[in-house]
Amino acid sequence: MFKTLPGFREFYPEDSAKKNYIFDKWRNTALAFGFSEFDPPVLEQLELFTEKSGEEIKSQLFEFVDKGGRGVSLRPEMTPSLARMVGARANGIRRPVKWFAIGENYRYERQQKGRLRAFFQYNADILGEESANADAEVIALLIESLRAFGLTENEFKLRLGDRTLWVLFLETAGVTEPYIIPVLSVIDKLEKVPPETLAALMGDAVKGSGLDSAALIEKVRSFIGVKSLDSMREAFARQELGAEISEKISQRLSDWEQLLGLLDALGISAFISPDMGIVRGLAYYTGFVFEAFQTVGTGRALAGGGRYDTLVKKLGYPDMPAVGFGMGDVTVSDLLELVGKGGAVSNAPDAYVVIGSDAVRPAALKIISDMRRFGLRIDYPLKASSFGKQFKQADAVGAKFALIVGEDELQKNSVKIKNLSSGEEKEMPIAEIQNFLK
Ligand code: HAM
Repeated sequence: MFKTLPGFREFYPEDSAKKNYIFDKWRNTALAFGFSEFDPPVLEQLELFTEKSGEEIKSQLFEFVDKGGRGVSLRPEMTPSLARMVGARANGIRRPVKWFAIGENYRYERQQKGRLRAFFQYNADILGEESANADAEVIALLIESLRAFGLTENEFKLRLGDRTLWVLFLETAGVTEPYIIPVLSVIDKLEKVPPETLAALMGDAVKGSGLDSAALIEKVRSFIGVKSLDSMREAFARQELGAEISEKISQRLSDWEQLLGLLDALGISAFISPDMGIVRGLAYYTGFVFEAFQTVGTGRALAGGGRYDTLVKKLGYPDMPAVGFGMGDVTVSDLLELVGKGGAVSNAPDAYVVIGSDAVRPAALKIISDMRRFGLRIDYPLKASSFGKQFKQADAVGAKFALIVGEDELQKNSVKIKNLSSGEEKEMPIAEIQNFLK
């Protein structure tokens, strides 16, 4: 006997129905926002991820050498593949590019609730537009994609951070290239690891820079708790700063004002909390970054994303600004289950055809084929059995109607139709059934 591998799920039909319910909501919301669906490969050249996704993901890759001796990996995320696909057409493509995808990703993660090794992810990204209008649009899509399940601001929130502002803040603390990215990745872990580990990580991140890592941790702690535009202003107002950096900071604070204004105009302010504690673990983010969290139950992340303006160029293509998010199916379906908003999912047929005798089976098959071609969902027994058994089966598969094909009715070109919940039964000409069931 074999078991599934740790972190991999198998979907029985009732699970698939729930999964499809989620995918349908995601897909319909993305289409409503004018996004087009794309589909990148599941297996990619290893370097696409080792060079572009950052340290944390590197340790989680499902990587191997294929029979042709190539280093390859299952995709842990879709963003590098998207950047390549859009980059390859950057010269002729109509901008803005608004694309979404739904597919399975693979990460060799430590087992924990809400984190699997194979999970589905819905991605939506806008490329080719650098203004905050694009950030606002993807944030609105993220929020509407969760609202589509009937979720409200009492059940989830989006925490909005900013790498650009962090970089400016770090500059005021004397942190410059090449230490910025390593320090940001320590900041990302600040709320998740014990103090000793943090000290060691920060020590490593600034090794060789001459910076005092303990003082830096203190300084960073003062900014990580910033949760409003006003406290951002105050955090910088407390410092003596040069003209050049002051100008950059005030420009960035006005970008914040603009983005928050757009989110307000889009009617989603109630879902948004500015929060400098959001830095994001992936290496390629450059500007606003965000994560949506459930505010009931475990408080886990439902989705994450942000701006990544340099990734397309780093892959060797023309410069192309980009912003987007990824949303996982695991935490979303757990949340829907928790709050009872999983939706009515059903594989039930519209009608179950009860076949009176072997003699009428060919005529029944013709009726069945016609109805299916018409777009109805029809089931019927594959072997001869009693009326009683057939009706039992019709109930078991959840059919709304039973259609009884018998010799006497066939003579009159009609069948009997029975409403399985009310028990009401009537005879109807075959030509009328399709419209009746529709
Ligand atoms: P991420 O934060 O790594 O971002 O993943 C986004 C979401 O995918 C998470 O919030 C979570 O819901 C889900 N997720 C990630 N890992 C797992 C896992 N092991 N098991 C279950 N769910 C998981 C990205 O992947 C970025 N590429 C998103 C993005 C798109 N940024 C810009 N565009």
